[in-house]
Amino acid sequence: MGRDRILDPNLEGDEETSELSLRPQKLTEYIGQCEAKEMLDVYIKAALKRNESLDHVLLYGPPGLGKTTLAQIIANELGVGIKVVSGPSVERSGDLAAVLTTLNEGDVLFIDEIHRLPRYVEEVLYSAMEDYVLDIMVGKDNQTRSIRVNLPPFTLVGATTRYGDLSSPLRDRFGVVLRLNYYTIDELSEIVKRTAKVYNAEIENDAILSLARRSRGTPRIANRLFRRVRDFADVKNNGVISNEICQIALDKLGIDNDGLDYTDYRYLRAIVETFKGGPVGVESLAATISEEVTTIEDVYEPYLLQEGYIKRSNRGRIATEKAYEKLGVKYYKGIFS
Ligand code: ADE
Repeated sequence: MGRDRILDPNLEGDEETSELSLRPQKLTEYIGQCEAKEMLDVYIKAALKRNESLDHVLLYGPPGLGKTTLAQIIANELGVGIKVVSGPSVERSGDLAAVLTTLNEGDVLFIDEIHRLPRYVEEVLYSAMEDYVLDIMVGKDNQTRSIRVNLPPFTLVGATTRYGDLSSPLRDRFGVVLRLNYYTIDELSEIVKRTAKVYNAEIENDAILSLARRSRGTPRIANRLFRRVRDFADVKNNGVISNEICQIALDKLGIDNDGLDYTDYRYLRAIVETFKGGPVGVESLAATISEEVTTIEDVYEPYLLQEGYIKRSNRGRIATEKAYEKLGVKYYKGIFS
């Protein structure tokens, strides 16, 4: 609600339209997610060695951690083409059939937000994934019949922020399931350094660290903040991204030293002040701060949980002592916290 949130990891923003692509092209250029990278490296090499298509891969985790980038890297490393679709945009099974029938042997089909595929579309995927065939219903009323279309072997790479929302028949059809985690400050520093290099920008080491610390473990946010700070540096500091200019810009953007912004504060204040620290159900919180439940669950909470500002219980959300400290409110340990 309200103004766009610069820390929203869902907003793909200007990195998509930037003339300079920040996306790494190879696994070795991809920073962080070491476990996922190590597994993918083995599976990709094995598939290439056997001259087979790679097994289907499911990538899950919070938004902005590089699921699309990894899918593109998988295709590059395999030396195959990639088709990209998003779950909610595939409304009819015919839409899916149209994409599947254009795939070449070994290609990657990337389905972003795969948990948002309509169920009847998802069902078409089952035989496509398992046997590389499509059963399409044609005709009307009592004249319908099914025709079978053979597909070339392909690799489905699915991405989701909600692993639990996937049906188990779909989940079971992925041979490789990888969870992406929030990045460490060191990894984010490396990403910011790399981005500065791509943009040919001069940046001080302290400024790199300031950006990394305030990026909520998320490269997409680090790169977006980098671009805004660079604007300030270009206008006010001859293009040099000093730590001072970095602090000025980030303060003006309303981002605190731990990467929390006004929406996080609004959320924490709602629990602490309106609901006396919780426990409070997500629906009540959503109504209080006028946000969607899914936005709260997928965007705000994962980082606040990981950083220990809130806890989840079966009775709802609870603010921790750290949240009280952040808000400058005296903490009373309640019976639920
Ligand atoms: N840009 C965005 N995410 C990245 C990553 N994980 N590694 C390198 N560059 C990136």
